[in-house]
Amino acid sequence: MYNGKARAYTNIALIKYWGKKDKELILPMNNSLSLTLDAFYTETSVSFSKAYTEDTFSLDGVLQDEKATAKISHFLDLARKKAGLPYFAHVESQNFVPTAAGLASSASGLAALAGACNEALQLGLSDKELSQLARRGSGSACRSIFGGFVEWEKGYSDTTSYAQVVPSNHWEDELAMIFILINDQQKDVSSRDGMERTVATSDFYDGWLDAVARDIQTAKQAIANKDFQALGEVTEANGLKMHATTLAATPPFTYWSPDSLKAMNKVRQIRQNGLACYFTMDAGPNVKVLCQKKDVASILTALQEEFTEEQLTCAYAGQGLKSLEMEVSK
Ligand code: ADP
Ligand code: DP6
Repeated sequence: MYNGKARAYTNIALIKYWGKKDKELILPMNNSLSLTLDAFYTETSVSFSKAYTEDTFSLDGVLQDEKATAKISHFLDLARKKAGLPYFAHVESQNFVPTAAGLASSASGLAALAGACNEALQLGLSDKELSQLARRGSGSACRSIFGGFVEWEKGYSDTTSYAQVVPSNHWEDELAMIFILINDQQKDVSSRDGMERTVATSDFYDGWLDAVARDIQTAKQAIANKDFQALGEVTEANGLKMHATTLAATPPFTYWSPDSLKAMNKVRQIRQNGLACYFTMDAGPNVKVLCQKKDVASILTALQEEFTEEQLTCAYAGQGLKSLEMEVSK
């Protein structure tokens, strides 16, 4: 029996990854830049054993169906190949984040699985190699290997596409992200399908690629200067550009719901009233609000005029991947 366990936190992209140039290797069309957060995370353990006759995957205590397990098996094959070990595995994962609701469960989930496999099979991977491995499970997972601000360099091959920390002088410790939970149910169009449809059919996709290269530079400059307004403005604008591409896809689609628009308007209003805050959204209806730690209490009070306390979760900068001790039942 080869056992390993790891915890990884979700990350939210300020400059989004949206589109692949290689689906098998998960090589992205553009660089992206994220903030790893402490509020939502995944813990995953994996056991490889000669005694197992198939791979099994249990998520939040529920044994998963063939389709979900096949996705995990595909990832396990990569780890097995690295280790030269042919054993099947049992994966047990707990999401402390709603699954597939646009809150980045795929990022924490696949980063935690990469970490657990590294432990179990004693692969001895460096952070860069862990990022490359996690990327093969889900693109955004490559960023969850690291804490704080992280950039995923798109690269051009398996070994050149990975994430790394953006130097920030600990500025992220002064920031916060408030999650406005609009809906925690699984979305209709996964990130994977949404970006594929957009790359294949959206008339706005070329415009996205032009813009995102500029936005990455603006965001990195803002981090270097600790300029919150500049970072907030480019974050909000970049998210809107990503979502605009979906409206020009065939068939067109959107992740926004009426309450997402309500949340975006509320953020604009809070800003007009003098508190610096900026929204971003991923492949789902939930809205995330980037702000400074010093303003969290006032912004939460203002948001509570429209949303319940239960809908609001405040997150701060989180850490990178962590190995955990595994309790092994005899
Ligand atoms: P999200 O916004 O939550 O990231 P996605 O549609 O991008 O939604 O990804 C959800 C998918 O990520 C799930 O269908 C599953 O394949 C994978 N996933 C989520 N949590 C885990 C986990 N703990 N372990 C392995 N895979 C996971
Ligand atoms: C909108 O990483 O979930 O959240 O690589 O197909 O697994 P796959 O997609 P995933 O997509 C994330 C898309 C996004 C933007 C981002 O996190 O950068």
